[in-house]
This record gives sequence, structure tokens and C-alpha cells, in this order.
Amino acid sequence: MRLRALSKRVQQLELSETYAILDTVRKLRQQGEDVVDLGGGEPDFRTPDHIVHAAVNALAEGETHYTASRGTQALLEAVAHKYKKEHGLDLDANRNIIITPSAKHALFITLMTLLDDGDELIVPTPSWVSYKAMAAMAGATVKAVPLDGATGFRLEPEQLERAITPRTKAILINNPNNPTGRVLSREEAQGVVQVALKHGLYIVSDEIYEKVLYDQSRHISMASLEGAAPITVTISGFSKAYAMTGWRLGYVVGSEDICGQLLKVQQHTVGCAGSFIQRGGVAALEGCQQRIAEMVVAYKRRRDRLISGLEHIPGITCRAPEGALYVFASISDLGFENSMAFTRWLLETVKVAVTPGTAFGEGGEGYVRLSFAGSDEDIDEAIRRLHYAFQ
Ligand SMILES: Cc1ncc(COP(=O)(O)O)c(C=O)c1O
Repeated sequence: MRLRALSKRVQQLELSETYAILDTVRKLRQQGEDVVDLGGGEPDFRTPDHIVHAAVNALAEGETHYTASRGTQALLEAVAHKYKKEHGLDLDANRNIIITPSAKHALFITLMTLLDDGDELIVPTPSWVSYKAMAAMAGATVKAVPLDGATGFRLEPEQLERAITPRTKAILINNPNNPTGRVLSREEAQGVVQVALKHGLYIVSDEIYEKVLYDQSRHISMASLEGAAPITVTISGFSKAYAMTGWRLGYVVGSEDICGQLLKVQQHTVGCAGSFIQRGGVAALEGCQQRIAEMVVAYKRRRDRLISGLEHIPGITCRAPEGALYVFASISDLGFENSMAFTRWLLETVKVAVTPGTAFGEGGEGYVRLSFAGSDEDIDEAIRRLHYAFQ
């Protein structure tokens, strides 16, 4: 018997490079190696206690069943309230929001809903690893708009316009950005909205790092800009702001029309997010926000430690990220063949794991991403080892 081929659509995908690094780190540690991991984006903080207690209580009270596919009424209303309070947006909890098991799933159902076979999705790069694969699963392709590191990865509307073709459906923006740490200025965000409105395109705005901001940076939710709400699908979640990566909880905010279509994909894939998990989400949004502020203070300290450590290594240059959890450092002056070769060398020689810039698409060559989501000790140790490697 000759078994038939598996789906071409899936076979053409590549495994996530960030997961590959996580797996390598895990294997090396199992072999007894002392690896410092600056590869992942996993906050090392525990989820705040009041959130954990809310979910534990929900479990104990028997909240262990399916919920409405859109999400529980309490969490839908908490999300609506957040957008009113923080961005002045009037959302109908039962029409404009869908609670999803992770922001990743929120993105997946969004791209499945917006994209047809042969469509193009414009994505400024360097960009997060999964957008391209998700677009491919929907039968579409990503049209990369490589941003220039020399300008600090500034996003110019003309660059987006040049990438538009008759097949373009949407522009995907990640703000604050993983991996560059850029936070869009109001002017840049308005530029995106103007281009999208002019050409009849949707905007997918991945705002998962909205709470992780440093110095004077302010997060502008794309949908709050004039004319943007009907064409924007906002993605966010709990992983980064509340140190809830393992809970898998996120949401989509969009027009009634778009959410109505999205709901079909949600209903026929996961059904709903976990019931007791959603109780944790309500506690996160409605409870005391002090822990977020404390975590951001710690991230800022770690960012500064990492940057000042890198500054003393000739050949490595970087700018201070305005948001998110990563330093995107240029290593092109170090003389390595490419960023993957540097990444491998670093892991082999001093057991420090980073992510090669090429994992983030066009414009990523010559860079590596170093995460400062881990502990202060890990950052200090990574810097010590880097200094040793380059002495
Ligand atoms: C830019 C970006 N979007 C989305 C996600 C997914 O978040 P979640 O843990 O909610 O799936 C991540 C996670 O690393 C991310 O970096």
C-alpha cells in the first residue's frame, strides 16, 4: 500500500524557529549543560495570586463546562470596559468581541476569516514568526515590507503603498513590535490607517505587548484612530501583560460583521476558551493593576542591564526598545557568515541561546533577538558569558 500524501498546505510550512531554540535548550539542559536562555518570550513572573485564586475558585465551584463560543458574559464585558476606559472605544460586548484560547488562536481565526487562496497580507518586517505560517494555512502569502534598522525600523506609509497589489487584503501591524521593540508614533499609526482606508484594506493590529512599555512610550490602539474601527481587527491577550502564557487566553475586537464570521471559525475549531480560565481573565482585567506596573519596572531594569552589557562588546550595536521584551541587536560587524551561524556559535561556545534575526523574515539578517523576559541573574550571566566569548 502506498499511503497518499499529506496536505501540501501543511507540508510547505516550517516548524517555528523559536520553538526549535526552546527544544535545543531543553535537550542541552537534559544533557546536564548549563544554558542561559535568552531565546524565548516567556515572562519569568508567576501569575498574580488574585488571578490564580479566581480560576481555582471557579474550578472548585464547578465551572468546568463549555461556555458560549464568544466567551463568558463577564469576560466579554470586562474587555469592553477596558477598551472604553483605555481607548475611548464603545464596544458591544456581544457583537464586537470574541474570547479565544490565546492571542495566537485569535490571529489564526482572524487570518482564516480575512484571507482567501492567493490573497496577500502585508506585514512590515522583521516580524513575529507565526504570521507567515498562519497566512499560508489560509492559502495566502505574506508580502513583506522590510523596514530599515538604520531608521530605527520606522514605518513609512509609502512603503506600505508600494507593496499593495490587486490581491492585497490586509495590513498586519504588531505594535509594540516583536522582535524590534518599536512602538509606533501616532503619526506612523495614522499613516497605516490612511493607506488602508484609501485602498479598502483591513488592518490586523496585534497589540499583545500593549502593557509592556518603557520610558515615555504610549500605546495607541489602532482602532481608536479616526476611521479605523470598522476596518481594524485588534488582537490582544493575557500572556505578556499578566504573565499568563500557560493559560492560553486572548481575544479579538472587531466590527459586528467581522466578528460574526470569525465566530464560525472559532465554533468549528476550539469551540470556546476554557471556562475557569476565563474567570482568571476577569480577575486580571478587573483586579488591581499594580502587579503589571511592578513587572514593567522589572522588565525595564532588565532591558537597561542587557543594553549596557551589550554596549561594551565591540561589533554589537542596539537601540533601547520602547516596548515588548526583546533587544534586537545588530551583529553584522562581528564577521560571522550570518545570524544563524552566530547563534549556533554562541550556543556552542558559551551556552547562551538567542534567536537569529532571520527567524523574523526579511530585514532580520545581521541581527539577533535577545529576550529580557527572564530573570536579572540570567541576563547578568548571559552578559558575563558574552564578554568572555569576545574577550
Ligand atoms: C507578537 C506576538 N503576537 C502574539 C503572540 C501570542 O500570544 P499568546 O501567548 O496569547 O498566544 C506572541 C507570543 O509570543 C507574540 O510575540
